[in-house]
Amino acid sequence: STPSLRFKIVLLGESGVGKTSIVLRFTANRFHETMSPTIGASFLNESIQVEETEINLQIWDTAGQERYNSLTPLYYRGSHGALIVYDISDEQSFDRATYWVNQLQNQGGEKSKIMLIGNKFDLNQKNVDSKMASEYADQNGLLFRETSAKTGLGIPDVFVDLCKELKRE
Ligand code: GTP
Repeated sequence: STPSLRFKIVLLGESGVGKTSIVLRFTANRFHETMSPTIGASFLNESIQVEETEINLQIWDTAGQERYNSLTPLYYRGSHGALIVYDISDEQSFDRATYWVNQLQNQGGEKSKIMLIGNKFDLNQKNVDSKMASEYADQNGLLFRETSAKTGLGIPDVFVDLCKELKRE
């Protein structure tokens, strides 16, 4: 039998950047043009095979709406990995992503491996420069990927690559 690992993964980022859509693309290979905002947080359990290892992912998809922000630390506490998501067409969502990076790295004392994700890469309106984002990620010790939950670009790779990184630790 294959060895197995269990990782807790949390998704963080401004409301509407596509956190739930990324999880939906990963777990069901589906996409919806219309989505209701997440209330509080939602939990999903998904298993994947990574380099001969069966990995059980406990995925916490948090709500991006401001009113839930005080609850968010409850969900990222003890996480092994964090997917911090912004929308490449929305500069303000990148600022919000850097806020969550700071929260995890400086405030929470979390050991979480962070992957910064620029989602909605299918959109023509690119307001967050890839090179700038990539350099920011390098400077802060983050993994960096660009994705589209709509087309499936970069998904499921974000989960697989994060797992490979966590396996190594
Ligand atoms: P909260 O639950 O409020 O935090 O939002 P969220 O980050 O989970 O965003 P959600 O997945 O609900 O997506 C918000 C909107 O963006 C929906 O209308 C999605 O269809 C759309 N969306 C998500 N991902 C993409 C993408 O890759 N490309 C495009 N064009 N639209 C996307």
